[in-house]
Amino acid sequence: MELNKIRQDAIQKLQNVTTERELAEIKTLLFGKTGELTGLMRKLKELPADEKPAAGKMINDLRVELLSLCDEKERTLHINAIEAKLNSDGIDLSIDKPFHTVGAAHPVNQVRKKLVDYFIGNGYVVYDSPEIETDYYNFQALNIPPDHPARDMQDTFFISDGILLRTQTSSGQIRLMEKNKPPIKMICPGRVFRNDDDSTHSPVFHQMEGLVVDKHVTLCDLKGTLEGFAKFIFGDETEIRFRPSYFPFTEPSVEVDVSCFNCHGSGCRVCKNTGWIEILGAGMVNRKVLENCGIDPDEYSGFAFGMGLDRITMITSAINDIKLLWENDVRFLRMFR
Ligand code: DAH
Repeated sequence: MELNKIRQDAIQKLQNVTTERELAEIKTLLFGKTGELTGLMRKLKELPADEKPAAGKMINDLRVELLSLCDEKERTLHINAIEAKLNSDGIDLSIDKPFHTVGAAHPVNQVRKKLVDYFIGNGYVVYDSPEIETDYYNFQALNIPPDHPARDMQDTFFISDGILLRTQTSSGQIRLMEKNKPPIKMICPGRVFRNDDDSTHSPVFHQMEGLVVDKHVTLCDLKGTLEGFAKFIFGDETEIRFRPSYFPFTEPSVEVDVSCFNCHGSGCRVCKNTGWIEILGAGMVNRKVLENCGIDPDEYSGFAFGMGLDRITMITSAINDIKLLWENDVRFLRMFR
């Protein structure tokens, strides 16, 4: 009789439980030290010996049944609690949110890295030269004295008298040669600045200078070097040609063209129907420049070259406006991942 009542009561109470705390209270009431079922177990002792087994079994059966009901209730409460928290936190897993994308190097940096790797592989050291420069390193030591007409081509941003933003990485040649004696093999990549602004010119752009000085360096070495570089960047079938030119810091000076990687010489938009693309200036280091750096031009000779990294990026990626490289529009940059 008593067992039945305990059972009915417990089931009734469990049905109304809504929190884990209420459930804990019921469990104490039933199974705790002074709980109802514990009490009944104690009372077993008072029964006559022949009734004890049957009564004990009944109490234990009820205990097992109620324990399992409590467990079940506990699971339900736990699940409900998780769901309630999910709803109240306002996490809507059905929202279609774009994934974060992985970044990548800027196209000019990709070209720069590729070229730097190539020249390092050919024994060159990478030299970092300052962007804020003196007139001496940017011009005079490179055989461009004040009033030299060659200054006209390089619309210079002056900071103060004699201090300027370098217009060319050629200044790195002087700084390196002042401190290092031949043999020299170096490249100097970096930003340069000119007061120039249209679809193919930006006031800030990138160049990479190259310099080799040793005994018996000739124009042939220059040609072989640039041929290797051109094939590496534009493809194995690429040929190069030298056109006579003038730079104050090289003598003789050349302008270097590569055969068009797009049409292989037959003429197209990339090469403006000429079959050739102009990519850099170069030449044999002028004796005066070597002398300015304390290197004996009778003992040593050298070649130098300078290229525009933005220009090479524009050529290889068919970009027709240099602004695209500076605006940092991610829709554009994503095309180069
Ligand atoms: N500094 C030149 C420029 O900015 C490029 C150049 C030409 C660099 C010939 C050289 C060179 O080292 O030999 O237009």
